[in-house]
Amino acid sequence: MQYEFLEIEKQGQVSTVWLNRPDLHNAFNEGVISELQAALNAIEDDREVRVVVLAGRGKSFSAGADLNWMKKAGEAALEDNVADACKLANMLYTLSHLSKPTIARVHGAALGGGMGLASACDICVASTDAKFATSEVRLGLAPSTISPYVIRAIGERQARRYFLTAERIDTKTAQHIGLVHELCQPEDLDATMDTVIQAILQGAPEAQAASKSLIDAVATHPVDEDLITMTAEHIANLRTGLEAKEGLRAFLDKRVPAWIGGIS
Ligand code: COA
Repeated sequence: MQYEFLEIEKQGQVSTVWLNRPDLHNAFNEGVISELQAALNAIEDDREVRVVVLAGRGKSFSAGADLNWMKKAGEAALEDNVADACKLANMLYTLSHLSKPTIARVHGAALGGGMGLASACDICVASTDAKFATSEVRLGLAPSTISPYVIRAIGERQARRYFLTAERIDTKTAQHIGLVHELCQPEDLDATMDTVIQAILQGAPEAQAASKSLIDAVATHPVDEDLITMTAEHIANLRTGLEAKEGLRAFLDKRVPAWIGGIS
């Protein structure tokens, strides 16, 4: 597929989705959203891809929603306005629920929806020049569609402050409140990404997909009998599988498992 607003770079088992609208700091409109949806769907189906990186070309990761598009959508009939917002909400859901590990590579602005994209990824690596904020209230808006992912990343208490104040969140604070996992100097961004990617590639792909769905199922569920049973069934299922058989045998034989180096 040809993309107008994205560039997809596949290197071995890593697929990088570059937001490629640098003149507008990778602000996203309906075109960017629909291309992101298509790219994520294609990556989900590509068995070769084990790690997904979301990154931005130019000076920024993403300046969030394209404010010209937001203005236009606000002037449309209610039904069209809602349908349009659903496309963004669905794309964020797809990103968040991809079966493969996702990493946001953040530099420059990650504002509004840009902070939402970073939050919807499993891991966020940022350089010290990154600027985060949920800036929506300063525009008379709210961080509606991104809220599930931002609240999941920073927690309700921090969301109360930052959704209401729209203050810039410096990178040290972003790391402190859990939004950023790894912080580095701009010149070290790719090396830091590579360290995280290599760590992911040590793990087994189906076990990682199962770990992601485990987090989704457990994180918001009360610790009750149902949950305890579900977690027991989860591991019981996994340990009957081929991956676990190979992983356990490799450990005991003191060799690397077959999925390392792309043989999965
Ligand atoms: N939507 C549409 N256009 C945007 C945009 C957005 N979210 N963010 C930046 N742009 C455009 C600017 O209007 C400008 O366009 P122009 O060259 O036609 O004038 C261009 O991108 C460059 O932006 P500029 O503000 O001149 O660059 P900067 O380096 O001084 O600042 C930002 C960059 C991203 C910090 C600043 O543009 C900004 O704060 N943008 C708004 C981000 C935001 O609040 N997003 C939340 C949306 S809900």
